[in-house]
Amino acid sequence: VDADGTRVFDLTAGPGDSDLGHGASTRTWGYNGAYLGPTLRAQKSQKVKVNVHNRLNEPTTVHWHGMHLPAKVDGGPHHPIPVGGDYQAAWTVDQPAATLWYHPHPSDLTERQVYRGLAGMFLIDENEENEEDLPHEYGVDDIPVIVQDKNFDGGQLSMSDRFLSDVGILGDEILVNGTPGPFLDVRTSLVRLRLLNASTARVYDFTMSDGRPMQLVGTDGGLLEAPYATSSVRLSVGERAEVVVALRPGERVELRTAPTGLGRFQGGRDAFDVLQLRAGGQITQKTLPPTLTSIEKLDPSQAAQRRTFTFQGREINDDRMDMDRVDAVVVKDTVEVWSVANGHGTPHSFHIHDVQFQVLSVDGRKPEFRSWKDTLFLEPRKRYEIIARFADYADPTTAYMFHCHVLRHEDEGMMGQFVVV
Ligand code: C2O
Ligand code: CU
Ligand code: CU
Repeated sequence: VDADGTRVFDLTAGPGDSDLGHGASTRTWGYNGAYLGPTLRAQKSQKVKVNVHNRLNEPTTVHWHGMHLPAKVDGGPHHPIPVGGDYQAAWTVDQPAATLWYHPHPSDLTERQVYRGLAGMFLIDENEENEEDLPHEYGVDDIPVIVQDKNFDGGQLSMSDRFLSDVGILGDEILVNGTPGPFLDVRTSLVRLRLLNASTARVYDFTMSDGRPMQLVGTDGGLLEAPYATSSVRLSVGERAEVVVALRPGERVELRTAPTGLGRFQGGRDAFDVLQLRAGGQITQKTLPPTLTSIEKLDPSQAAQRRTFTFQGREINDDRMDMDRVDAVVVKDTVEVWSVANGHGTPHSFHIHDVQFQVLSVDGRKPEFRSWKDTLFLEPRKRYEIIARFADYADPTTAYMFHCHVLRHEDEGMMGQFVVV
């Protein structure tokens, strides 16, 4: 933290050697280390400044996924950091407590850069009473769980696309925070898992091995109004969920993924063990607060604009990304309703920069609760209605992106631009 209270971070993207649990050294990429990056953390209302250094052998950018910030520091493909170059992004955090993340976003190279290891979490804290009542001791009862699928070939991280799946690289092994087959010693009766799907294409249906419910307490952009008990949480690429799992003394239970039913879009394997939880004989009793926060219900009758986006092939509304074409001009501080449809049989994952949105309907049905989202799984042939407020930052000359977060699709141009004026 510097003199005026700004939280300053340094991130150096570069190559390194790690074994990723395979007993042989393999070449990976990371921020400030060989694989993944540090968890960045800031308070709501705090100023942050991140100095990024590119020590890779190709251009990169760093995008703050889920962050509400000016387009100039969004880290999209318009502002590549050249080989050996530096970049600085500064903004004031202005959104609720949430589990966000950061990752590269250069033209054409995003899938391979993330796959090699460039990604990290960015947590926002708000110090509200109910947030304080959730498990919040980082690494003890509040655990980052970055889930990625990988392929190894003779101990070496393999980039091969062996399933020829139409969604890019799919791995047949799971790493959690860069480690295969991890376990966690649990010392409290409630443990909060901050799940991030930082894979390039794979979709996960998280469950507990004995079917016990998890309490969903947060989605991409913040906490729910109240915990929601569920036995399964689906996360497509880029999505996050915070769940709280209850354990009794001495218990062992596995966080797993169950078959998604997405067939060939998941490669050869579609169910994995993810993280074993091992409770000690003596654990501290905790209780979950009955309410967590309050969420303003955005009102579709206030919408200044309605738009429709259809995802099909590698196109959104029959167009691929064109840096010289702006697809939507949004008026600052207005609310818009976007109808987003998946027009065919391939799964996609819809993401908007800058804003957190609420889902109004899925194929005409209202969801069971409101929550803040920035990324949404588009099941084949379904239509979703979402609502967002495009607040605070106008810049007619710098675009934000919306795109498919299946990274191969993004690299192939399944992306559009909007400006806020
Ligand atoms: Cu997580 Cu435009 O990205
Ligand atoms: Cu993003
Ligand atoms: Cu897609």
